[in-house]
Amino acid sequence: MTELLTQLGKRSYPIVIRRGLLSALGEMVSRFYQGSKIFIVTDKNVNAYYGAAAEKALQSAGYITGSLVLPPGEQTKAFDVLPAVYEAMLDFGLRRRDLILTLGGGVVGDLGGFAAATYLRGVPYIQIPTSLLAQIDSSVGGKVAVNLKRGKNLIGNFCQPMAVLTDPDTLATLPGRFFYDGLAEAIKAACIKDRALFDLIRGLVSRSELHSRIEEIVTRCCQIKKEVVEADELENGERILLNFGHTIGHAAEACYHYSRYTHGEAVAIGMCLITAHSEATDMTAPGTAAELRETLAAHNLPCALDADADGAALVSAISHDKKNMGSSLNIVLLKEIGQGFVYETTLPYFHFLLSGDGV
Ligand SMILES: NC(=O)c1ccc[n+]([C@@H]2O[C@H](COP(=O)([O-])OP(=O)(O)OC[C@H]3O[C@@H](n4cnc5c(N)ncnc54)[C@H](O)[C@@H]3O)[C@@H](O)[C@H]2O)c1
Repeated sequence: MTELLTQLGKRSYPIVIRRGLLSALGEMVSRFYQGSKIFIVTDKNVNAYYGAAAEKALQSAGYITGSLVLPPGEQTKAFDVLPAVYEAMLDFGLRRRDLILTLGGGVVGDLGGFAAATYLRGVPYIQIPTSLLAQIDSSVGGKVAVNLKRGKNLIGNFCQPMAVLTDPDTLATLPGRFFYDGLAEAIKAACIKDRALFDLIRGLVSRSELHSRIEEIVTRCCQIKKEVVEADELENGERILLNFGHTIGHAAEACYHYSRYTHGEAVAIGMCLITAHSEATDMTAPGTAAELRETLAAHNLPCALDADADGAALVSAISHDKKNMGSSLNIVLLKEIGQGFVYETTLPYFHFLLSGDGV
């Protein structure tokens, strides 16, 4: 078992990572919460595997539980879904001193976390992330949000959880595409901060090999994320590093209406394109792009856009990204694997990169 403390003054919280943690959930939650009522937000897939066991463990520890099981998928993380979430909480009689528990991937964590931040002006919540992406990334850092039809994460807040309780054993049931999707974010974290983690992941080719070291991978990624968040909780500086590969990645997702690439696949493409370009312009150590490409490809992740990619549409999507609304654009480049840095540029950088040869 590993326990990391995210140090944010009064908003500090632990991230507990332990294989088999779910079977002792009641005991684990009682370390942080001594009230009586817990409302679980989850989705149908996760509920089928873990819902009953989680509720039983909580009830055995004396808690009164209620739950809302939502349809799986990004469409659930919608502003329009919130009223039903709040209604279910009201029906359960959830009060401000009670607890919300999010059990699921990033969709459930972001939506449930946003509901916790806003229901009755804020109720404490604990994240129990069950996808790889949620365990290494979205559950840590307190960014909670829902989507509008006009774009992802447009309505949100920073609201740190009371604790993050992670059981890497849940990843055994995660479908392959989502597993590798999350692995793209682990490779990203390694690229910006941790050469040793990159080498570890590169050396573990099959999913079963990755599983055998998954606790270590999850722990190291959480360590990186928590350190970046501690340095910059509200994303005004250092936290931008976590966006390596995301400028092009977000554009590629948006251009195809979130149907062609998963988030991790789009980020993998973004990391490869930006690094090939920065290496060609002598800002990145020679050989870095090839090493990155080989590692991503070995883990079922794409390294280039499809042949029909429209460079102009991608640049337009970059200009519409909410993070790029100012005149300058902060992007993340690698000095080498394990060392990311923020580079200030403007939109024409992407005109050049994504037109003709870049695509
Ligand atoms: N808050 C943040 O800082 C942050 C960071 C990165 C991404 N995100 C958000 O996270 C979301 C994506 O998260 P995700 O990839 O976890 O998506 P997701 O929550 O949709 O989960 C992916 C799929 O896996 C299923 N699933 C989850 N855990 C499972 C398990 N253990 N066994 C079987 N099936 C399981 C889910 O039901 C779903 O079908 C996006 O909305 C993204 O914007 C947020």
